[in-house]
Amino acid sequence: MINDKKVLFSGMQATGNLTLGNYLGALKNWLTLSNEYECFYSVVDLHSITVRQDPAVLRKRARALLTLYIAAGLDPEKNCIYYQSHVSGHAELSWILSCFTYMGELNRMTQFKDKAAKHADNINAGLFTYPVLMASDILLFQSDVVPVGIDQMQHLELTRNLAQRFNAIYGDVFTVPEAYIGKTGAKIMSLQDPAKKMSKSDENVNGSIYLMDDPDTIMRKCKRAVTDSMAQIRYSDEQPGVKNLLNIYCTCTGKTPEEAEREFDGKGYGDFKMAVGEEVIAVLKPIQDRVKELEKDKAYIDGVIKNNAEKANYYASKTLRKVQRKVGFPDRIR
Ligand code: TYM
Repeated sequence: MINDKKVLFSGMQATGNLTLGNYLGALKNWLTLSNEYECFYSVVDLHSITVRQDPAVLRKRARALLTLYIAAGLDPEKNCIYYQSHVSGHAELSWILSCFTYMGELNRMTQFKDKAAKHADNINAGLFTYPVLMASDILLFQSDVVPVGIDQMQHLELTRNLAQRFNAIYGDVFTVPEAYIGKTGAKIMSLQDPAKKMSKSDENVNGSIYLMDDPDTIMRKCKRAVTDSMAQIRYSDEQPGVKNLLNIYCTCTGKTPEEAEREFDGKGYGDFKMAVGEEVIAVLKPIQDRVKELEKDKAYIDGVIKNNAEKANYYASKTLRKVQRKVGFPDRIR
């Protein structure tokens, strides 16, 4: 607990262009939950270098992502928005927790398998231990809740296991976190292949709506979305393309799938896709405008970066000192 509130942690990688999946699966829920919890939202740049990055591009994207968090509506006075690399506690706790993680556990991680297959020329140790760093991010702030998309569930389970394992040896050190998964936006699929997750790294740019896509591009991608020949708008696994568009529509509007089915009853796919496009534009356009405004105010963003790094370091050190004492590191002499 911080200031009598439960703690929320989440983060995103600044690699590639963020997609509507990132927004609907995670960022949108961050906004809903931010009043209820003491929140830490990190731009997880330590995670990004598990895949080779151009340094200048990474730095630029990290700043754009931090700006986007604010533009989406997270108030940096109330929410701790910061770069992971500005808080050394993440890496320190990660080392300690890696000594409590079994190779077998990491070997089972499906994201490692996927990424290793994709980057066969660079299967580095960081890629393998990535889930330990993610667990450390969460446990460092004694987080109660972690809003993420479904693809992060396996990492969340590992985090819970590590917290419980550590607590069983050393007493009540870590809060055991729960995942928060939204009802309709937890897994947004590619618009071109509804069997595949919408992803920043998809080579087919028509499969993903990027958060900074202009309205015409958004509408074009929605109109081109793959559906089927069943000519009915039903929320069913037999119609994965339509179901995905309904998920997008419902998460944007806050309507339930049943309400949306009723609304589009008897309508054609053309009208339906247009309606989806309009709702996506209505959600993204104000954020894009705010990003452009915020980008001009360098001093303001710099202030956020500085103040929030201090705040994050303060809470991170509290947990870290406790953990260091528990595992037997000598006390510091002051
Ligand atoms: P990342 O950067 O891949 O994705 C950020 C968030 O977006 C969600 N997401 C999706 N949700 C629904 N549909 C999709 N198609 C979709 N694509 C992505 C992800 O589930 C995630 O919530 N390892 C994490 C970052 C991370 C983290 C953490 C998250 C590092 N430490 C601690 C939470 C807590 C990642 O790579 O997310």
